[in-house]
Amino acid sequence: MRTTLFLAALVGSGTALTLTARDGTSATLFTGCAKAGHAALTFDDGPWQYHKNVSDICTAAGANVTFFINGLNYDCIYNDPYPGWLANDIERGHQIASHTWSHKDLTMLSQADLDAEIDKPNIAFQKILGVKPAFLRPPYGNCNDTVLAALGQRGMNAATWDFDSGDSTGSSAADSKKAYDQRLASNPTGNILALNHETMASTVTDVLPYAISALQAKKYKLVTLATCLGLAPYLPASAAETSDFSWHC
Ligand SMILES: *[C@@H]1O[C@H](CO)[C@@H](O)[C@H](O)[C@H]1NC(C)=O
Ligand SMILES: *[C@@H]1O[C@H](CO)[C@@H](O)[C@H](O)[C@H]1NC(C)=O
Ligand SMILES: *[C@@H]1O[C@H](CO)[C@@H](O)[C@H](O)[C@H]1NC(C)=O
Ligand SMILES: [Zn+2]
Repeated sequence: MRTTLFLAALVGSGTALTLTARDGTSATLFTGCAKAGHAALTFDDGPWQYHKNVSDICTAAGANVTFFINGLNYDCIYNDPYPGWLANDIERGHQIASHTWSHKDLTMLSQADLDAEIDKPNIAFQKILGVKPAFLRPPYGNCNDTVLAALGQRGMNAATWDFDSGDSTGSSAADSKKAYDQRLASNPTGNILALNHETMASTVTDVLPYAISALQAKKYKLVTLATCLGLAPYLPASAAETSDFSWHC
């Protein structure tokens, strides 16, 4: 495992930083979208009680979005009704990505704990949904070479964001809406990879409908992270399973 720590190359280009280990595995940290005129709305920290509200609002607006899902954060991923809600997201064209098992800072862990934070949610996604997410968002956006090497060994990549609605750091809904307005007024990148949290009621009821309208008024295509990057959302995985004693946190 440690061989991956000897880097062969660390290449940065705009919104992507790629680490290649000597054993050939590589992982990229994406910090923005790649396609002009595309917007990827992302929602972290679920699943929780407002999850389906977000999915419904986005689907009704023709927006495909991305959920960075934890195994055990606000609630346990295996608890009803989350497995059904998440399967429904995929049917609707939304993307499910990993936000780790329990939302720890991945740069503060032992190798064993880091591995568990990556692998435990992937086991849940496979059992519940029959998918293995190709993307993981490190909590707090904290990532380092060891984290990227661990993701590379699993064929996964990391993704952060280039716009923060501020909904988890004290911004009011009015502040968040103003932040969207400011970004869209003179968007330097021509696209947007936006961080939001499905756990905030005012994000769901107020900021999200506003952001969708503002983006669509400016003719942005509202797409998943994978579409925004032109990459596949999932890695090969075995079929979903039916609920049994192992579905617990
Ligand atoms: C959204 O997802 C649906 C279902 O997969 C797909 O048909 C549609 O083209 C997607 N829309 C965009 C804008 O990517
Ligand atoms: C990088 O992350 C790993 C895994 O959490 C940690 O053990 C290591 O100390 C971190 N390295 C630095 C330089 O922060
Ligand atoms: C979420 O949807 C449920 C069911 O439609 C509704 O009762 C609830 O008020 C909604 N919550 C928010 C925060 O929008
Ligand atoms: Zn988070």
